[in-house]
Formats: sequence, C-alpha cells, structure tokens
Amino acid sequence: MTLPDYLAYQQKRVDTALDRWVPAESQDPSIIHRAMRYSLFAGGKRIRPLLAMAAAEAVADSTEGIENAACALELIHTYSLIHDDLPALDNDDLRRGRPTCHKVFGDAMAILAGDALLTLAFETLAKLPHVDSERRIRLVAELATAAGTVGGMIGGQVNDLEGEGKDPTAPLLESIHRAKTGALLRASVRMGAIYAGAGAGAGGGANDFQLTALTCFGEHIGLAFQIVDDVLDVEQPSEALGKTAGKDAQQKKITFPAVYGLEQSRAMAEEERLAAHVALRPFGSRAERLLQLADLVVQRTA
Ligand code: IPE
Ligand code: IPE
Ligand code: MG
Ligand code: MG
Ligand code: MG
Repeated sequence: MTLPDYLAYQQKRVDTALDRWVPAESQDPSIIHRAMRYSLFAGGKRIRPLLAMAAAEAVADSTEGIENAACALELIHTYSLIHDDLPALDNDDLRRGRPTCHKVFGDAMAILAGDALLTLAFETLAKLPHVDSERRIRLVAELATAAGTVGGMIGGQVNDLEGEGKDPTAPLLESIHRAKTGALLRASVRMGAIYAGAGAGAGGGANDFQLTALTCFGEHIGLAFQIVDDVLDVEQPSEALGKTAGKDAQQKKITFPAVYGLEQSRAMAEEERLAAHVALRPFGSRAERLLQLADLVVQRTA
C-alpha cells in the first residue's frame, strides 16, 4: 500500500471508531454533542492515533481493535486544543480551518465539550474490547500520566502560559515542549506497543526491550513535533495552518525559533528525526510505517 493510501485507510479507521464512541448530535443534551463533534471532526491530522496503530503493528501481527485505544488519544488531544484556544489560554479564533469551538458554542459549552472529551477518553479505555483488564489498566495509567500535571500535557500548558513574556531559556523551552506536546506523543507510541503486548513480560526480555526502544522513538518525535509546530507558526500563513499564524511571537511564547532562530530550529528537528530512526533499528522493516510517520512529523507543512 502506498503511504497516502495507508494514511487515508488508518484515518478512516479512527474516524469510524470515533463516530461510534461519541454520542450522536441528536442525543440529549444535543448542544454538547454538537460541540464535541464540531471540533473532533474538523479534519485533524490524527497523528497520535496513527502513531499508536503503527507502533502496535511494529510489535505484533494481530492488533485487532487498536483503533479504539487510538481514539482515546485523539479525544484527549482534541480536548486539549479546545481548551488551548479559550480566551483565558491562547485566545484563538481559528482551529482546524474553522472558527474555534468557543467562538461557535460559547466559552461555557467549549469548556464542557473539552471536559466531555476528556471523560470519554477514559470511558473508551475502560470499555476496550479485545483487551484483558491488566492491559486496560496500563493504558489508562499511561494516558492519565501523559495528560497530567507532572511532566504531562497540563503541566506543560501551565509552564507555557506562565512563560509568556519571560526570558526564553533553553532548559525552560525544552521542559515546556516535552511536557505540553511530547508526553502525549510518547504515550501514543507506548500505548500502541502496550496494546500489542510489549513490556508485558515479568522480569524483562524481548518485550521490555521493544517498549524501551519505542519510548525512545516517541520522545524524539515528540520533541520534533513541537519544534516544527513552532517553526510553522512563523513560516506558514493561517490559511495553510488552519490556525492563526504568528501567534507565538504575538503572545511572547517561549518557542524554538525564539531561542534558536528558524534555521537552527529546523536543524534540531531534523536531528530528532534521525535519532528517532536510529531508535527503531532493532525493528527492521516492521517499523517502516513508524519511520514514515516520523518523516511526516518533521517534513509536514501544516
Ligand atoms: C496541534 O497539534 C497542537 C500541538 C500539540 C502542537 P496537531 O498539529 O496534531 O493538530 P491537529 O490534530 O492536526 O489539528
Ligand atoms: C498547544 O501548543 C499544545 C497543547 C497541549 C494543545 P500550542 O498552543 O503551540 O498549539 P497550537 O499552535 O495552538 O496548535
Ligand atoms: Mg498553547
Ligand atoms: Mg495555542
Ligand atoms: Mg503552536
């Protein structure tokens, strides 16, 4: 299968599963389900679910139902975007090529839509078919930690907001980016691997080795992803991004271009891409899709 066909096929699997997990717009109270679906089905790249599914394929031949676990990642990610755009946070009007959730549904409903997506993510994991309860619990713990306050998404968002206008230092920059974005991308890869049985062996062995390698891969692409997000915010117009360009400089955010300049930021993203490739060497051709996704993360234009 060509890469574009593979991406379209996997995105469709995720979207079909999301459509099953999220209550219909007609379900009472209709407004909240409309708000959730408005943001969820606005055309995101689905990078996190794609990574989870590709990681699972690198570990096992049979990954039946993996798209359900992948949905949990997209639910958390979309919630984080809705809240990131709120007037009290980044105050953005445009997301995924549409007016932001709060612009259409109001602040209160956007806050609740984010809360609802967050809650549904854990309901999805708790109800995962095809997975034993031990793995379900491990998946819940992975996602909760990655979305949480200690080195996770919320912790990173706090530091990102508190960093506005502050001197952009390299250590602060890296800790913000690893937490606000890197943690969920790392968890995407790990959750796919765990779903497929990696890291399950008592006392180590091949399984643990796979999870360690995939974690290393996830950390490199996690950092690369946010470096590129920062670069694109400077280089691309809003129409290409589907979100407001030039926002980081306007809000005096601590970003890679602010600390290192554009050229060096690009070079650093490329270094992370190469390191991600090296981490997957032990997998040989089984990791082909993951390597292609790493390239996509760095070479994307939106
Ligand atoms: C944007 O994420 C927000 C960040 C964490 C940098 P994506 O670039 O994955 O956004 P979508 O899901 O494709 O809209
Ligand atoms: C947001 O980072 C990361 C999240 C946890 C949502 P940004 O604020 O840079 O994301 P964009 O550029 O608005 O998508
Ligand atoms: Mg932000
Ligand atoms: Mg933002
Ligand atoms: Mg950004």
